[in-house]
Amino acid sequence: MDEERWAEVDRYITQRVLPADPALEAALAASDAAGLPAIQVSPNMGKLLQLLAQSIGARTILEIGTLGGYSTIWLARALAPGGRVFTLELNAAFAAVARSNLARAGLAERVEVRIGPALKALPLLVVGASGPFDLIFIDADKENTAEYFRWALKLSRHGSLIVVDNVVRDGALIDEDRRDAHIQGIRDLYALAAVEPRVSMTAIQTVGIKGYDGFAVALVVEADVGNNT
Ligand code: SAH
Ligand code: DHB
Ligand code: MG
Repeated sequence: MDEERWAEVDRYITQRVLPADPALEAALAASDAAGLPAIQVSPNMGKLLQLLAQSIGARTILEIGTLGGYSTIWLARALAPGGRVFTLELNAAFAAVARSNLARAGLAERVEVRIGPALKALPLLVVGASGPFDLIFIDADKENTAEYFRWALKLSRHGSLIVVDNVVRDGALIDEDRRDAHIQGIRDLYALAAVEPRVSMTAIQTVGIKGYDGFAVALVVEADVGNNT
């Protein structure tokens, strides 16, 4: 088994169940032309995000880590009528590309892109009563993953789904010599989920066009005390 085979199988699946999509393809082309790193979710993962959001009838979605808005398009399309996505991005230039990609996809009205460090934006979402969110997708700087998960809990209700990208990283999380903040941040997430009674979580390892990684899905089974359920 090698990476080229994983990528080919991804293409096999994509060709069959993910029809050509001009808005998504234009978003990728514009992001590439603007020099953004091509680290967006795979089409298969984007579709999974859409299906998860649709299956719970999500009306409010929070995304941490916008990049060029590729995953945002998948999520925004899944919104129930009148629904809204808030997406947080540190890099103003990336956010500008995302806004343009979302506008081209006809989704500008349904999405609010907030620029700045997510840890500054998240408290404002609590104060601003934008939540609770039905689905939260965590996909930003990996060192803060556990901290984002704590915020996700604060911004959740009973029944909310929290999805976290990049929770396997080539299996590096089990390499004891890997002490860097990126990997430690992922380990902190598992440590938190292990003792957090308000969530029920699993994680799935993935291979494909993005190599070997994984994602976690957590269901909020009990709301944050004091939060509106
Ligand atoms: N969800 C996107 C990919 C996000 S890549 C998709 O699948 O299409 C991770 C993004 O997180 C990058 O754009 C990076 O600029 C952003 N980021 C990094 N640190 C951040 C922070 N502290 N706050 C908000 N966004 C951050
Ligand atoms: C990378 C991949 C991601 O999905 C992400 O969110 C950040 C970085 C990467 O491959 O470097
Ligand atoms: Mg990611």
